Amino acid sequence: MQEIKFFNGENIPLELHKVRVVQKLHLVPIERRLEALHEGGFNTFKLKTKDVFLDMLTDSGTNAMSDNQMAAMMQADDAYAGSQSFERLQKAVEDVLGKKYYLPVHQGRAAENILSVAYVKNGSLVPMNYHFTTAMAHITTNGGKIAELLYDEAYVINSDHPFKGNMNIEKLEEIIKLHEPKNVPFIRMEASTNLIGGQPFSVKNLRDVRALADKYGIRLVLDASLLGENAYLVMKREEEFKNSTMAEIIKTMTDLADIVYFSARKLSSSRGGGICTNNVEVYKELEAYIPLYEGFLTYGGISSREIEAMTVGLYETLDETMISQSPSFIKYLVDSLDKKGVPVIKPAGVLGAHIDAMQICAHIPQSEYPAGALAAALYLISGIRGMERGSVSNQRDEYGNETYADMELVRLAVPRRVFTLSQIKYVEDRVHWLYQNRHLIGGLRFVYEPPVLRFFMGGLEPVNDWTHQLIAKFKEDFGESL
Ligand SMILES: Cc1ncc(COP(=O)(O)O)c(C=O)c1O
Repeated sequence: MQEIKFFNGENIPLELHKVRVVQKLHLVPIERRLEALHEGGFNTFKLKTKDVFLDMLTDSGTNAMSDNQMAAMMQADDAYAGSQSFERLQKAVEDVLGKKYYLPVHQGRAAENILSVAYVKNGSLVPMNYHFTTAMAHITTNGGKIAELLYDEAYVINSDHPFKGNMNIEKLEEIIKLHEPKNVPFIRMEASTNLIGGQPFSVKNLRDVRALADKYGIRLVLDASLLGENAYLVMKREEEFKNSTMAEIIKTMTDLADIVYFSARKLSSSRGGGICTNNVEVYKELEAYIPLYEGFLTYGGISSREIEAMTVGLYETLDETMISQSPSFIKYLVDSLDKKGVPVIKPAGVLGAHIDAMQICAHIPQSEYPAGALAAALYLISGIRGMERGSVSNQRDEYGNETYADMELVRLAVPRRVFTLSQIKYVEDRVHWLYQNRHLIGGLRFVYEPPVLRFFMGGLEPVNDWTHQLIAKFKEDFGESL
């Protein structure tokens, strides 16, 4: 994509779209924000949007839809079986992802459920570059274990490594030999590792994984939920692809996988999801689970309108001006925070900016959830809702012990084409203020802890009265400002 320079030398991202439908936001007073935190158990998942100013929880289902996606929804062909909307979607999957056989599911985790039910059993081991919460939960629920095999550089916060999501090839081979290929139902590669900073892997790395999959006769599964952005960073960072199109890069990547699955809430700015393959045997192995868990084979739990939006959204994933918007805003935010000394994952990746609670809240032990505390504190002083991506998001081990996360991050998601630059500047300003006052943030403890995926519905409380001290300092510095 051509660079757009400003005469004044400023280096800021420029929106290449116009806004024609808007939604009013509310910035409620800090006293109400404290009440909302108590009502929601200091868990940002349990806040209500009427109390949230900038919703940076996730990009899942929150990317802005295009005019063409909205228009396509009107031609939805509602039919239980054999809908024309589904035929259009099938064609889009083949055109964009290069896979002939497509099984629709209602969202990404439904694909993970089906893959796990079909292929994982007691004693299975699934190697992956890094886990995603729901992917891991489905594998372990079916009796399997996971092995995360990133290189050491993936865990370095302040780095300039372009592909921190790369699979550690040497460790992958070691672990396959150790556990024997027959116990490895598939290798899972996640595009733009969600939980550790939205970091991409290179095509070269994926080719190396493919070679090992071939050598040991193991299926290679690609989680393509964030594939568009991963492909965009391949274009920017991998020499071989600097003159390739998005379509070429995406096809190169999906061609290397036996099975591709995705959350359409992310990939195509719609709802829905899917599993696709060119292997008819795989298709047949999985087919029967769709009517059982999702719906008939031509809708899979997705409404026909969303199927139409998904079709257009898949083609739009190939548009560089669309796909580059979120990474360019993230880069702006990451670079601005970095200049102010705020520890933030570098290089900037996709999905969001990830601030490092382990450093910012070094005074809070992991047993008191520094990332959860930082996410709550940020909401309190700004109305910005981020997501905890640390130990609260981890699950306990089989003996009920805490498993502390490798990283304690607060993710500030930047959904595609949702925020303006002044809103991003507000984020930068309030995160900076909070960083300067970080010593006032205290820890959290669970008061309600669900056994599975506890981060969604769990309830916590502050370990002491730190919220009041933070509010007092906010009032001192901002007066009556919201
Ligand atoms: C990489 C990745 N895989 C799978 C999923 C699960 O998708 P869904 O939320 O649609 O169930 C997500 C969701 O955030 C994700 O980021």
